[in-house]
Amino acid sequence: MLKKLFIKTYGCQMNVYDSARMADVLAPLGYGSTDTPEDADMVILNTCHIREKAAEKVFSELGRLRQIKTARSGVGDDMVIAVAGCVAQAEGAEIQRRAPYVDMIFGPQSYHRLPEMVARASRHQGRVLDTDFPVESKFDFLPVAASSPGATAFLTVQEGCDKFCSFCVVPYTRGSEFSRPVEAILAEARAMIAGGVREITLLGQNVNAYHGVGPDDSDWPLARLIRALAEIDGLDRLRYTTSHPLEMTDDLIAAHADVPALMPFLHLPVQSGSDRILSAMNRRHGRDDYLRIIDELRQARPDLAVSGDFIVGYPGEDDRDFADTMDLVSQIGYAQAYSFKFSPRPGTPAAALDYSTVSEPVKSARLAELQTLLNEQQRVFNRATVGRRLAVLFDRRGKEPGQAVGRSPYNQAVHVDDAAHLLGAIRPVVITTGLSNSLAGSIDDAAAEPSHAA
Ligand code: SAH
Ligand code: SF4
Ligand code: F3S
Repeated sequence: MLKKLFIKTYGCQMNVYDSARMADVLAPLGYGSTDTPEDADMVILNTCHIREKAAEKVFSELGRLRQIKTARSGVGDDMVIAVAGCVAQAEGAEIQRRAPYVDMIFGPQSYHRLPEMVARASRHQGRVLDTDFPVESKFDFLPVAASSPGATAFLTVQEGCDKFCSFCVVPYTRGSEFSRPVEAILAEARAMIAGGVREITLLGQNVNAYHGVGPDDSDWPLARLIRALAEIDGLDRLRYTTSHPLEMTDDLIAAHADVPALMPFLHLPVQSGSDRILSAMNRRHGRDDYLRIIDELRQARPDLAVSGDFIVGYPGEDDRDFADTMDLVSQIGYAQAYSFKFSPRPGTPAAALDYSTVSEPVKSARLAELQTLLNEQQRVFNRATVGRRLAVLFDRRGKEPGQAVGRSPYNQAVHVDDAAHLLGAIRPVVITTGLSNSLAGSIDDAAAEPSHAA
């Protein structure tokens, strides 16, 4: 009998990719997906540890799952609860202590061992805890990701981080940098394309630090991998995320000029516009470096839409530092961005600093001011596309009957009525409405299909 699997994913896109791989690994054991935990035989929480709020959500969700598990066992039914991802890696022992009813706890590098863990848990041989960094790579054991529910897919090419920004848990939860070999990536991309994927987003915590071994045994940088992927028939669009400014090499910048499949959108976090804070954060670059890189990118691809991440209220951040951040944002003009209050994370150097130096009300005020500016920039960017004809890749149904939603080259969500039959297609759309978070438009020419971006 088919068993039911429910996976809840928190955090970044790499977790989204990992959740799909976990489902792939469990499928041969008879697990098929379900949409609710209530009827699931196994529930996996794929967790995120990046900020305190993200980690705390896991414990409240576990409380809810415990009730379901108890009710189910009352009728002689078993439900396996697993915690995967970065909270499992960082707080495995804490989860065992606070939530003893959790059956399996395993970190991001152990997913290929899932079948073995499931066997142990189902024989009731005690709880499973696997937070090693195994010598073998999970990628060598996971099945090729052939199945994707839509026209667009994530493909992890690099994992881990050696940058050690002072505030960040990722180097501890994901381990050190690892790049997958070129041929494995090309094979996975081909399988995805054969399954109907037209756009691939290459993923890595530090994706532009990618240096995988190529078929010629030499080290391939990301730019070379992008050029090889762009050659594959049927792959119309490529994106990559997330990048570090230090790894924005000349050849990668050049790829934005001359690889048509590479979409004109780049997420390049800077965190702060203050040199003093950037240095305290161990970002290893200054504000001028960032401004120069964006300048070079825009020379290569004048219409490049830039996205970023920001942290306000880092220990010691004063009014001048914050003013520098606001000034940098004004200079860049972001198409989209994420911004957060600094959250002290156990085990990171920044957590040991005096983080009471920026009071909570000041943090909130700075975040609000920054977000007002970023939101306004996003609105301006979206409005500027009204009247333009943009190529949209339709990848999901909209809320209205017959409506389809897709992505513009600049990664904007575009809603189009009477387009549900176009799922999986790229069509030119004339933009009629530019809202804060999305666009709407109508199909311009249903007959011709543009090959790439704009
Ligand atoms: N590897 C990526 C992103 C890592 S996490 C990069 O280097 O850009 C995503 C974002 O979360 C970061 O860019 C940062 O803005 C935010 N973040 C990370 N740690 C944080 C912390 N301790 N407090 C608040 N925000 C944090
Ligand atoms: Fe974290 Fe910095 Fe690595 Fe990004 S580059 S994952 S922010 S340590
Ligand atoms: Fe969160 Fe881990 Fe991703 S901490 S952001 S899920 S790498």
